[in-house]
Amino acid sequence: MTPTSETTIHKGLAGVVADTTKISKVNSETNSLLYRGYPVQELAARCSFEQVAYLLWYGELPTADQLAEFEKAERDGRGLERIVKEAIDLLPTTTHPMDVCRTAASILGATHPQAADNSREANLKKGIDLLAAMPAVVAYDQRRRRSLEEVPARGDLSYSANFLYMTFGEEAAPEVVEAFNVSMILYAEHSFNASTFTARVIASTLADLHSAVTGAIGALKGPLHGGANEAVMHTFDEIIKALPDGGDVTEATQKWLEDALANKKKIMGFGHRVYKNGDSRVPTMKTSLDKMVEHYNRPDLGELYAAMEAAMAKEKNIKPNLDYPTGPVYHLMGFDTEMFTPLFVASRITGWTAHVMEQLEANSLIRPLSEYNGVDERQLP
Ligand code: ACO
Repeated sequence: MTPTSETTIHKGLAGVVADTTKISKVNSETNSLLYRGYPVQELAARCSFEQVAYLLWYGELPTADQLAEFEKAERDGRGLERIVKEAIDLLPTTTHPMDVCRTAASILGATHPQAADNSREANLKKGIDLLAAMPAVVAYDQRRRRSLEEVPARGDLSYSANFLYMTFGEEAAPEVVEAFNVSMILYAEHSFNASTFTARVIASTLADLHSAVTGAIGALKGPLHGGANEAVMHTFDEIIKALPDGGDVTEATQKWLEDALANKKKIMGFGHRVYKNGDSRVPTMKTSLDKMVEHYNRPDLGELYAAMEAAMAKEKNIKPNLDYPTGPVYHLMGFDTEMFTPLFVASRITGWTAHVMEQLEANSLIRPLSEYNGVDERQLP
């Protein structure tokens, strides 16, 4: 089909339904998000991230035996091969951790024995290997940025407990593990968002799963998408830095926001392409933030969070998205700000790879049209 002058241009593909999916349902009217039919809030309250990963890939929650087998496969795959560590070590510690993740995903693909095999069976194996390896990449990078030795994975800990253990070198408190587990579940899947769509576009060319994940990591990096959780903390840091001793947080936040909006800045962690009345995942993550504020005794951060949310409601009537509460949660847990989006990567590997497999089940090359609006045909001089 050739576009005509009457063609409707869907800038940013806004409102375009590109395909069907059985993996998740985002309903902006009712502010709900279902993974394979289950409300994400219930999954976050009652399941482990491993159960949710299984659900996204297989379509059903695992039985006890299936879960044991799945957990064993994930635990067996933990840790990093030497080639990945050597490649990471070649990068300066000033390299953005998202670039480290993207590079690591590419190397994991280049060295995977089933790299070129696009069967569902091979893609499930590659998915679980990526799921198991990415926490090690993130933890390794976080520690080398602080000139700390690598901490080997522990096979007796859950995915979330081990992730925190490998990063910080000690077992985290159960409430911290729980908050981390909730964040992993909420970040796992969200239909045709920019990075998932990127993964599906790449998969649609019949390229391999690691290529799709590597491209998706690139798409997630931007501050309009996953990079927003990092950007939220930079905003908080700016406000805290400018706050005079004994200054009023609410006033300082209001002033910061007015200046930012006057300079036409987008406020990170607010707004959403699909949800216009609030992101369905925020209340669950906000509960975890409240618990972390209490656990780490940082009411000041809770106050700042509330001040910005109220100021945005007053000035723009725009609500927070998931990146708004996760930023301060990861900060309180002790992650460097630049590590926040890689945590999103570690979780979203599940959603991306589920979509790659779904795309391949009924593949059609994704190739939209464009309307040419450059100069008319002309001759070389
Ligand atoms: N700060 C200030 N104004 C905003 C914001 C914001 N965060 N979000 C939307 N707006 C305003 C826009 O300026 C625009 O106003 P205008 O009509 O007066 O020009 C209006 O709301 C509509 O905004 P769009 O950018 O057209 O909305 P769109 O659906 O394209 O954008 C997006 C959604 C990109 C997420 C946007 O809200 C944004 O940039 N937010 C900040 C980045 C962010 O937090 N991203 C994380 C997304 S969620 C996730 O990845 C987990």
